[in-house]
Amino acid sequence: EESPRLYTREEVRSHSSPETGIWVTLGSEVFDVTEFVDLHPGGPSKLMLAAGGPLEPFWALYAVHNQSHVREILAQYKIGELSPDDKAASILKTSDPYADDPIRHPALKVNSQRPFNAEPPPELLTENYITPNPIFFTRNHLPVPNLDPDTYRLHVVGPPGGQSLCLSLDDLYQFPKHEITVTLQCAGNRRSEMTRFKEVRGLEWSAGAISTARWAGARLCDVLAQAGHQLSETEAHVCFEGLDSDPTGTAYGASIPLARAMDPEAEVLLAYEMNGQPLPRDHGFPVRVVVPGVVGARHVKWLGKVSVEPEESYSHWQRRDYKGFSPCVDWDTVDFDSAPSIQELPVQSAITQPKDGETIESGEVTVKGYAWSGGGRAVVRVDVSLDGGLTWQVAELDGEEQRARKAWAWRLWQLQAPVPAGKKELNIVCKAVDDSYNVQPDTVAPIWNLRGVLSNAWHRVHVHVAP
Ligand code: HEM
Ligand code: MTE
Repeated sequence: EESPRLYTREEVRSHSSPETGIWVTLGSEVFDVTEFVDLHPGGPSKLMLAAGGPLEPFWALYAVHNQSHVREILAQYKIGELSPDDKAASILKTSDPYADDPIRHPALKVNSQRPFNAEPPPELLTENYITPNPIFFTRNHLPVPNLDPDTYRLHVVGPPGGQSLCLSLDDLYQFPKHEITVTLQCAGNRRSEMTRFKEVRGLEWSAGAISTARWAGARLCDVLAQAGHQLSETEAHVCFEGLDSDPTGTAYGASIPLARAMDPEAEVLLAYEMNGQPLPRDHGFPVRVVVPGVVGARHVKWLGKVSVEPEESYSHWQRRDYKGFSPCVDWDTVDFDSAPSIQELPVQSAITQPKDGETIESGEVTVKGYAWSGGGRAVVRVDVSLDGGLTWQVAELDGEEQRARKAWAWRLWQLQAPVPAGKKELNIVCKAVDDSYNVQPDTVAPIWNLRGVLSNAWHRVHVHVAP
């Protein structure tokens, strides 16, 4: 028997487009799957996410591949093995504050490596109602702390005459366990569309800075009550501090009004589980705040301290960022003290299928996407247009039924519609309506702001129709 041909990881990586051919690996085996891409039952675009690299991280998300007939299909395309001396161990510099960051899923579209900021690609974002942990979008401002669950302590400052708490994980487990499905969205989601209109300062997020998980933990109101806090302090704020910090020792921080924190119906959590697992490191291991219906920035990860204060958090991220402004405000005139911090987010929706620039078949088109609103407001309708907004059709809403005033999670939606005869291209548009009848603005211009936050204009996708 001939010995197999050997390839380096670098060679495999250079085969990731139709021009070079498409290679993937499984274990130490190398496959040329160029011919299979268009035959893939899950669609070519999903397979292409693994082009030039290992299949394992993707197949771990889709258990359908755990079958012998899938392995047999793949075996037909084997061309050799990875060279054994190609360990490709990455060289870690100890001086690098990010050297200890966790390993991430290769499907994530990285907007910044240090600190790590990444979103799932649109093909995967709405594949599941619950976003799998490895592809949940990640927004870090600082290196990820590496915390020991045994020595972890959460400090809860009590009121004058009350009792400060120093809680271990086991102490937190003693509070009633509360589990809810919550969609988390960054204020910068869809910022790249604002940038296209006019330059803004911030990371270039597409429509994927949003994800949904089942979160479980102690209710913040129960923990605050045990420390002796009461709702009587009406104007107060609950300030959170993360255990991630910059080289000067300044930690990430944010705050929410005490009234929301103390309201059992608001379901604010000190979460220690995400989709039935301990929180992944990128998402705040071992404990993070989850504030349903509120902007991502207040969901403080790696939570170290909770205190009730007369004023909002003095953190940069509470006072000098995550605020909205008029389109007329620029970096010379901006006055951060003049605007309220973003808390509840406005109604939002986006198209995840088809993708912008894609060529679709004539006949019928399936349009898919997500819709969500802040403050527990339910999505009551999603309208879709195939002609840039001249005529509309109502999409079908999937996903879990929503509770009145507690609609914390998104609805996925889809529309199947005939492609109008003779059309060479379609301008697909979506817009959602929430149960306060809030709607999305039709264009970016009137909501443009220098920081590129709250980008929720009608989402538009331009596609070509195959002749
Ligand atoms: C389905 C093979 C890569 C996502 C399938 C099925 C096969 C297959 C045979 C049908 C299984 C069944 O229903 O019994 C392969 C091979 C791959 C590959 C040989 C690599 C060369 C990927 C990747 C992804 C993916 C990288 C995700 C990023 C899916 C999904 C389905 C599927 C979502 C289910 C489709 C549906 O049921 O509608 N694949 N796959 N596949 N694959 Fe893959
Ligand atoms: N908490 C800490 N400690 N440090 C951070 O950088 N980023 C915030 C918030 N909590 C952040 C944090 C922002 S801006 C967002 S949008 C969410 O975490 C993102 O949460 P995720 O990474 O789990 O998606």
